Amino acid sequence: MAHIPLEDNFTDVIGKAQRGWKISDAELCARAGVLPADLAAVQAGRPLDAVLRRVARHLRLDPDALEALAHGRWRPRAPVFPRGFAMFNTPHEDMTVNSYLVWEPRSRVAAAFDTGADCGGMLDTIAAERLDLRYIFLTHTHDDHVADLARLAAATGAEVWASEREPAAHAGARTFAENSHFHLGEIAVKTLLTWGHSPGQTTFFITGLAWPLAIVGDALFAGSIGGSREHFAEQLRHDREKIFTLQRDTVLACGHGPLTTLAEERLHNPFFSRPWHPPTKQPEAPAATGVAAAADRVEKQRPALRIPVAAKRFARPTPGRRRA
Ligand SMILES: [Fe+2]
Repeated sequence: MAHIPLEDNFTDVIGKAQRGWKISDAELCARAGVLPADLAAVQAGRPLDAVLRRVARHLRLDPDALEALAHGRWRPRAPVFPRGFAMFNTPHEDMTVNSYLVWEPRSRVAAAFDTGADCGGMLDTIAAERLDLRYIFLTHTHDDHVADLARLAAATGAEVWASEREPAAHAGARTFAENSHFHLGEIAVKTLLTWGHSPGQTTFFITGLAWPLAIVGDALFAGSIGGSREHFAEQLRHDREKIFTLQRDTVLACGHGPLTTLAEERLHNPFFSRPWHPPTKQPEAPAATGVAAAADRVEKQRPALRIPVAAKRFARPTPGRRRA
């Protein structure tokens, strides 16, 4: 499996939290007591710790986890599955998207989870492992996750299943309710409704492999979360109640980015690694001096170390890049 980078950097995390909580730049500056120029510098990719930590508190993010993300100090580690699991990462427009295969090694009965942009690799594995693909389960029906559904279904004859809250636009597709159970021989698949990113966003909790596995779609990413403008609070709540209550060695297979584990996300995901607190409306005392301005003054004395280098390293996504 190729190295898959984190889906979101710290500017993406801040942006998703701001959009989710509907907090404008001006409001965030007022609440956190930071200067607009400092916030703009952070949003442009400069990891100014003092600013990061101030805004994190007002976006209900863990300051330590956000700072670690900003400085590249964390990358999730997840155990390997010796048998019965394969991950596929395919390019879709300006991002990549994951899809997965799970099977019982003895009977070779298999299920696919999403199709990704191109199911060619999945079909190759099905042929190489001589799998009997019975089900195609959809975490949700956003284009990138179902882009090759017609081809995968036609090539395998597998049943297509999606949440009753978000049926698939595919002839003969079926729907499941929350807490439905499917079986691939000894492997059990349970549906958990973790909606928010989309109306029927489903997490599939799978037991019977070497490790408990949750295929979470865009409910959660390593170090981040799928975006949600309208139902952000619900998404966080559903993730907390239904994903973060699974056993701690559960491997999380996300719709974008690398594999991770529940234990890793409890420690390092800025959205989930801090205790839950109600939002605060109390503005902090403003910083006496702009952090970015102070940094610029230092940099002006050392032209060779000017921050644009760092800004380039942590560059924001190209304008118009779609975030999952
Ligand atoms: Fe999505």
